[in-house]
Amino acid sequence: MTRELSAADIAKRAAAKEAVALVEDGMRLGLGTGSTAAWYVELLAERVKAEKLNVIGVPTSVRTGKQAESLGIKLTTLDEAGWLDLTVDGADEFDPDLNLIKGGGGALLQEKIVATASDRVVILTDPTKQVESLGAFPLPVEVIPFGWETTRAIIEDLLETLDVDGRETVLRMNKDEPYLTDCGHFIIDLHLKRIGDAEELSDALNRIAGVVENGLFIDIADEIIVGHEDGTADVIVYEDEDED
Ligand code: 5RP
Repeated sequence: MTRELSAADIAKRAAAKEAVALVEDGMRLGLGTGSTAAWYVELLAERVKAEKLNVIGVPTSVRTGKQAESLGIKLTTLDEAGWLDLTVDGADEFDPDLNLIKGGGGALLQEKIVATASDRVVILTDPTKQVESLGAFPLPVEVIPFGWETTRAIIEDLLETLDVDGRETVLRMNKDEPYLTDCGHFIIDLHLKRIGDAEELSDALNRIAGVVENGLFIDIADEIIVGHEDGTADVIVYEDEDED
């Protein structure tokens, strides 16, 4: 039975298909989290099965691990793999320098650890996620539950000193309880509307004791694949202007 896909799913699938073509036999693969990354995992499993590819995956969330395992993709831990050849993930926003906001799905910490341990990072998106400057999507900040209200107050004080357009902070909830990440942390979403200097904000957030990590992915993505509703996809490659 063939599935009737929504326009959004056609775009996500188109981006994922382009990324699956980058996989080679023997690769160690970082597997992202979210609805777009789930398409990649599904299509990857099809290729692995059809071509008997010997690849191994490191999932960035319990959710992705379960999906990959159920589809027959061999999994390992990042510690076992040591380093990865290719990570493919989704994003919530990307700017012209291929900097990202991630973590809408709550997996930003493992996603950043896995991406920064990869030779090549490919991000799957659609045109709605392309922005001139980051910040319309709320920035997730993963915090330690101990003293989280104090951590939040310190974040709010920090935001007063920075070039952003909004300063509302919201504890992410799962029904009546704080949302818990796979690592047992909370997430505070920062509604900034516009981030003037993403690097300055990221560094300042990560200097706060109760902050584990934030969803700004700066200089991490090598390529963005933009899927379209007509089933085509464009690839945007990061060009380092400092290189010859
Ligand atoms: C999860 C993420 C996701 O990659 C991001 O939220 C995009 O998700 P989707 O593909 O469902 O739009 O960062 O933590």
